[in-house]
Amino acid sequence: MKIFLDTANVDEISKWLNFGVLDGVTTNPSILLKEGGSDMEGRVREIANLINPKPLSVEVFTNDPDEMIQQANIFAGWAPNIVVKIPVLNEHGTPCFGVVNTLEQSGIRVNMTACLSFGQMAMGAKAGASYISIFSGRVSDEGNDSTKLIQESVNWLAHWNYPSEIIVGSIREAINIQDAAMAKAHIITTPPQFLLKWVDHYYTRATVRTFNEDAKEAAAKMTELKFLAS
Ligand code: E4P
Repeated sequence: MKIFLDTANVDEISKWLNFGVLDGVTTNPSILLKEGGSDMEGRVREIANLINPKPLSVEVFTNDPDEMIQQANIFAGWAPNIVVKIPVLNEHGTPCFGVVNTLEQSGIRVNMTACLSFGQMAMGAKAGASYISIFSGRVSDEGNDSTKLIQESVNWLAHWNYPSEIIVGSIREAINIQDAAMAKAHIITTPPQFLLKWVDHYYTRATVRTFNEDAKEAAAKMTELKFLAS
C-alpha cells in the first residue's frame, strides 16, 4: 500500500519524505489556492523536483476537453514525474473518458479524479487511467458506503487484470486512512495532519517519558556509585 500526501506544503512533504514513508503527492486547484503561494508553476516544479521520481498529481481547471489536453501537456512538461488529474465528469456532467484515453495513449499518466461511484471507476479503468481517485469523504457525505466502494473497486480491477491503481482521497479523519487500508486501497492520499494523528498515541509518549526519566535516574545513580567507589 502506498501513502501519498494531499498537500502543496513543502515543509510537510520534506518531513514525511525524510521519514522514508512517502510514495507520492496529490494536489488539486483548491489545495494550490490555499497552500501553493502565488506561483503555481514554481510550487509544482519545486514539489516535483523534491519527490522525484515519485508521482505528483496536478489537476486541470477547465470544462473543455481540448483545453484539458492542452493544460495536461503543459503540466506534464514541467517535470517527468507529473501525473495529470482529469475529472471523471466536467461540471456539466460530460464524461472525460476521451481525454483520459487520449492522454494515456500519448504517454501522459492520468489520475482520473473526483470519482464517487463504481460506474465512474470502472469506466476510468477501461479508458486506461493509471490512477483512479475515489473521494471517500464525499462518498460518505452522500450517505453511501465508501469502504464497500473501495473494496469492490479493488477486487473488480484485480479480477479483470486492469492496471489502474485506486487512490483513496477526501480523508477527513485518521480512521478513514485505516478503513481505506483495510479495504485494500492501493494508495491513500491524506492531508499531513491526519497521518500524524494516525501514528500519535498519548500513552506511547507517556511510556517514552517514563523510560527517559528512569534512564536519567539510573545514570545519576551510576555516577554516584562510581564517585563512592573512587
Ligand atoms: C485527492 O486527490 C483530492 O485532492 C482530495 O482528497 C479531495 O478531498 P476533499 O473532499 O477534502 O476536497
